[in-house]
Amino acid sequence: MTIRPMNQFIPLVQNKALLDWVDTELPQYVKTHYSPNQKWKKTPFDQKDASFYLSAIEELSELLTLDRNFSKKQAYLNLPKFRSSYLLYFLPLQAFKFLYTFQMHLEALKPLLENPKKEIHILDCGSGPATASIALLLELKRNGLNPNTPIRITLVDDNQAILKDAKAILKKLVPHAYIQYVHCSIERFKPQAEDTYSIVLVGHLLNEMKKTPIQLFAQLAQKDPAGGILFLEPAIDTASRKLIELREILLEENKKIQFVGPCLHSERCPFFNDNKDWCHFSFPVQIESKWFNWLSKQLSEKKSWLKFSYLWIASAQFKKANSSKNLKLVLTDPMDDMKSKQKAVLICEPNKTRRYLLNSNEKHWLRGMRVKP
Ligand SMILES: C[S@@+](CC[C@H](N)C(=O)[O-])C[C@H]1O[C@@H](n2cnc3c(N)ncnc32)[C@H](O)[C@@H]1O
Repeated sequence: MTIRPMNQFIPLVQNKALLDWVDTELPQYVKTHYSPNQKWKKTPFDQKDASFYLSAIEELSELLTLDRNFSKKQAYLNLPKFRSSYLLYFLPLQAFKFLYTFQMHLEALKPLLENPKKEIHILDCGSGPATASIALLLELKRNGLNPNTPIRITLVDDNQAILKDAKAILKKLVPHAYIQYVHCSIERFKPQAEDTYSIVLVGHLLNEMKKTPIQLFAQLAQKDPAGGILFLEPAIDTASRKLIELREILLEENKKIQFVGPCLHSERCPFFNDNKDWCHFSFPVQIESKWFNWLSKQLSEKKSWLKFSYLWIASAQFKKANSSKNLKLVLTDPMDDMKSKQKAVLICEPNKTRRYLLNSNEKHWLRGMRVKP
């Protein structure tokens, strides 16, 4: 029997407010702040503007996906052409990945919505333009966030220019929020004993760092934010392995840690000692955004998959839905099994993956599904 306990493979990024913002206010912000021509700044963003920004977006896309040179990568947000590119294309792309993850695991966000009077404090590490916070706030709104709930956002980033963009964008999007900007490298960020967080978000940061600041994340895990700690990274092996290693170290410190996702157990990750494969996901999607779709089509093709790896550490209070008990995580799409001539998938088990032959009712199983084999 296959169970789809979450929204796996509902092929739609559903959040009208986010999609509208990506198509209107965000491109207008980029045009107003990054246009080389004073006269252009005041006119609405149009096709000519999209074409104008495309070549830098192509360049940045290549740098981020192909070039593994850390020092070159670290400097990219100092250049206005790459900041505008990040804002216009990568912010939406990464925000959609966060949104998808939130929508897969809405149960983990419930504690943030339960008490409308209680402040929601988001800690966004390596925030860039506040991508993850924006996706979270608009998703909380879609799920009934009370407009009077006090909101505090702490953004930590070592790039001052992108924090300036984050500031301008958030001021407009969530005018009543109290926003703290911490301009420092994450290695030097020291949460105080009295600091409490409702949720910690870490987006596409570890991939840009040589060494994971494990102590910081262990300290944050001890603070036990009600919404947990969500790490979201590219689907590539190096980034996914950082999450696997981090998971292992945090588990060594606290065997009781649970995960919102993707892991369904708290024992050793089957990929920990396996250098051939790594934990990552591709979710089919349909994204109804004019500018995002146009840009992605120019870059290669219209985005129909969101690819990433993630690790969401749960709060100690997190209660798994009854429906998710006894489920197993599918780690691959169906592949040919030479011996049996059947299709097979790898299933996540402690320490080792399990090869599982699919029967005729299970042929639709895909990477990322939670199933009862
Ligand atoms: C790829 S961007 C991700 C931005 C945002 N979190 C997102 O998901 O779209 C990486 C961000 O991490 C920041 N960053 C990289 N290394 C950092 C470090 N050591 N300390 C603080 N921020 C860092 C960069 O300045 C950049 O804003």
